[in-house]
Parts: sequence; structure tokens; C-alpha cells
Amino acid sequence: MSDALHTANEHETWWRNAVVYQVYPRSFADANGDGTGDVAGIISRLDHLATLGVDAIWISPWYPSPLLDGGYDVVDYRDIDPRFGTLDDARQLTAEAHARGIKIIVDIVPNHTSSGHRWFQEAIASPIGAPSRDRYIIRSGKGPDGAEPPNNWVAVFGGSAWSRLDDGEWYLHLFDVSQPDLDWNHPEVRAEFRDIFRFWIDLGADGFRIDVAHGLVKHPDFPDVEVTGTVLESENLSDGSHPFWDRDGVHEIIREWRAVLDEAEAAVGRDLMMVAEAWVHPTRLPLYLRHDEYHQSFNFDFLTCGWDAEEMRGAIDRALDAANGVGSTPTWALSNHDVVRHATRYGLPDGTPWRTWVLDGPHDILDPELGLDRARAATLLLLALPGSTYLYQGEELGLPEAYDLPVDVLDDPVWENSGHTVKGRDGCRVPIPWESTGPSLGFGNATPWLPQPAVFAELAADQQTADPESTLNLYRRAIELRRSQWVGAGPLEWLDLGTGTLAFRRGAMTCVINLTAEPIDLPASSQVLASGPLGEGRLGANRAMWLTD
Ligand code: NOJ
Repeated sequence: MSDALHTANEHETWWRNAVVYQVYPRSFADANGDGTGDVAGIISRLDHLATLGVDAIWISPWYPSPLLDGGYDVVDYRDIDPRFGTLDDARQLTAEAHARGIKIIVDIVPNHTSSGHRWFQEAIASPIGAPSRDRYIIRSGKGPDGAEPPNNWVAVFGGSAWSRLDDGEWYLHLFDVSQPDLDWNHPEVRAEFRDIFRFWIDLGADGFRIDVAHGLVKHPDFPDVEVTGTVLESENLSDGSHPFWDRDGVHEIIREWRAVLDEAEAAVGRDLMMVAEAWVHPTRLPLYLRHDEYHQSFNFDFLTCGWDAEEMRGAIDRALDAANGVGSTPTWALSNHDVVRHATRYGLPDGTPWRTWVLDGPHDILDPELGLDRARAATLLLLALPGSTYLYQGEELGLPEAYDLPVDVLDDPVWENSGHTVKGRDGCRVPIPWESTGPSLGFGNATPWLPQPAVFAELAADQQTADPESTLNLYRRAIELRRSQWVGAGPLEWLDLGTGTLAFRRGAMTCVINLTAEPIDLPASSQVLASGPLGEGRLGANRAMWLTD
């Protein structure tokens, strides 16, 4: 790669060191009192985000949708679901966020549409062989009368990835049956998404989070998948040979989108970015970050680490190498709307398979206080690292997973599709408690679409604002200090403070996190911020500290 091309991602701009806050609109704030969050609700809580000090908001899908996969099933990519508001609300949100210096990142879902999308409705209303079916992946089945699916591909949410149409053909859906996969070989699909990017840029978006960024391109022969090892291992291949994940052909599409952004950037006079949701082998990630592709990618390698210093250090080094090698910056996250909240994950014995634990327990192995201590410590680690940190709504309140939601309120398609063996992701999507009283703890004035656990009342934002030691105030102080002390502090240099600890310097600043069960001695520097009370000048187990020369 030439130096000129290599530096295309490198100029100093907002996304390189941003704190990005993920809003899951359905559960953030309900202004119209129907029990479901909305855009007006987000606007009403912008001051909370400004006080928290975030640089940008990533808004999970807000498009018209049957919400069969929480909005990742899009019916119209150029509108807002009436339950969430209107395009004018989106314009107002963008303007009011910009007025507070906060950027807006819109979620784009290009791998699949909702089955309610006009293209799919047109496809299934058309006869076999009609060109309108070619925008999706529709094939004949196997077996004497085509009654078996075209191959053995399994959907991410469980069951076959193929469903049969009334006319006997089969359509591919890597996720829910209501999410047919688009065919990215089709020029109209390509043109449509280029235009969708332009639409949101014109409305004021500063960036895009791209859903299933490692999907899109399928092997032209649709061969069976060979599953060796765990499903995850068989999906995260290091050589691009999986028939539907992380295929080399995806990069040409990414470059097309990047060209749209680069061209628009000059026209609108704002720095634009795209961040990839790419669950790929760590060695393949840099390919997505080349100068003419994504600006950044999520880092699931770190998110899935246990409470283990060596494991975390390995993931940090890999992410730094991957990003530095291509002129990007790494990203860090502990939670999002797809995983068990980290305040709960960290309270489980190491190695607990948290996705299934939510349903199967045993739930008495959870130590919530330990989880919160570790979550607070991990936050200081993350905010001190080079690059951008992506926060998930409610983590600044230390919210735990609502693992005991009654099964009759579950909404995630994973619950049904797994044959009731995996409870799914609703437990991290419970509406935010803004106040300690009221029918939905300040979320709105109606019963919320998912019930809030009792503990949410004491974790409500109003309670925490008043408490100087609260998790909310820790986040506020940490984000403020990060801006003045860590951003631009220079490269990371590891220090050795013994097994089970992680410590590094960046310029005059030092970050230490104690992942052992015993207190440790601290370097002789001035203490700046700690994740919890200090024990006799030493750093307690499961605590982190920032220090300065
Ligand atoms: C990833 C999203 O984060 C998740 O919520 C969704 O279910 C799948 N992609 C399918 O769009």
C-alpha cells in the first residue's frame, strides 16, 4: 500500500478517538407515552448525553419495520417508523445533537430487508423466473420435488437458513425467516444502497454503522457448510473460505460505499465515517480497514474476553496492530444490544456460557457486586486505550442484564427459533430507568414494552446524579478526563506490575487494572481517578486506577 493511500484514514478527525454512545431507540426514552421509546424521547435526553460527554450517538435502526428483529428487519430505509416518530423528528434530533457538538451515526442494514419490504413483496407476487425475484436469493430446492432446502446452511437465529415459498422455490435468510437476504450481485441493490447513504447524509448523518458487514456475498455455487469444531470456530475462518461469511467479494462493495462517503464529504463539509459490524477472524479485520474501505470496525475479540489479564492483553495488542497497520484506530466496547450486559457477565464465574446461562442458570452463581466492580474497572481500562470507545445505553448506570424476564414477554426471534433453548437478547434491551419512581421509572408514562427489574429503581439516573461515587458520575469524570489527558497522549507502552494485572503508560498517564483477587501496590505517581475506594493506598482486587507523573 502506498504511503499516500495508507494515510487516507489518518488525518485527525472526530471518529478516531470518539466516545460513541449506542441508543437502542425502542428502549431509550418514551416521549409519547405508548410504552415504546421514540425519537422525541432521544431529543428529550440529549442533555444527559451532553453531560456524559459523548462525541457521537449511534442509533440502532429506527426505520419502518414489523420489529420482528428489533428493527433490523427494515421495510423502508428512507423513513422513520411511526412508533418512533417522523423524518422531521430525525432532522430535529440531528440539529439538536449537532448544536451540542454530538455527531449522529445511522445504522444501515444491507444484508437483508424485512419480508415486508416492497421488493420482497413484489418478488413473491411474481412468477418463478421473473426478474423482480433476482434482488433476493431465491433458488429451487433439492430432492425429487424440490422439497429439501438448496443446502445445509443454518440461520444465525436457528433452523434452516432457507424457507419455502408457496410456489415451491426457497429463499435464503441468514437470520430470521422475516429477513430475506438481498443478492448483492444485482445492480439495483447496489444502486439503492448508494442512494440510501446519500439520503441520510443529506439529512445530516455524520456516520454509519453497517450491520452484518461480513455478510452480503455468498459463494456462487452455494455449497454445503462444513462444520468442524464449534459453530463459532467454523464461522470465523482465517482464509475467507466460508461460503457466506467474510468472503473476499465483500470488499468491492465496501469500496463502492466509501466512494459515496468520500464524495459526499467534500460536498457537505463534514467528516463522515463508516464502522463495520464484522464478526471475523482477527487476522482478517485489517482487510476491512484499508484506506478505501471502512474507517473503523467493532472489536468483538476484546468484548468476548473473560476476566483474564493475558487474554485481554492479547486482544488489545491484536486490535492495536490491526488498526495501526492500516492507519485506522481501534475501537473498544463491552456491551451492545446483542450481548449480555457486562456488569452481569463479569459477575459470573469465568467461562460461564452467558448466552445460555440467561435461561438455564444456575442464577445463584451470579455475584452482582463483583460484576459491577469489574465493570467499573473495565470502563477505566477502555477509556484509557488509544482509539474510540463505544458505550451501550444504560452501562453508564451500571445496569445489569434482566436475565429473569418472564418468557411470555420475550420478543427476540432467537427465543422461538432456538426452540426455546436460548432466551435471547431482550435482557439487555429493557427500557432505561431515568427516575427512581413512576410506572416506567421515568422512561415514559405508560407500562414499558419490557418490564424493568426492581433493581433498576435504585440505579435510576436521578439517583446516581446525586451520588458522587455513583457509576454515572464515574463515567462523567472519566470521559471528561479522557478528553484532556488520554486523547492524543501517544502510543501505549506496557508496564509489568505482575501476573493478573494490566498496566500501561501513554505519555504522562498510567492506567492500572487489577484482575487478581488480591490488592496490589501502585506505581509511585499521582492518583487521578479510581474505579472504587482505595484500600490503604493499594489497588484492590477488581479495581482500576489512572495515575499521572
Ligand atoms: C446484528 C445486529 O446487531 C443484530 O441485532 C441483528 O439481529 C442482526 N445483525 C441481524 O440484522
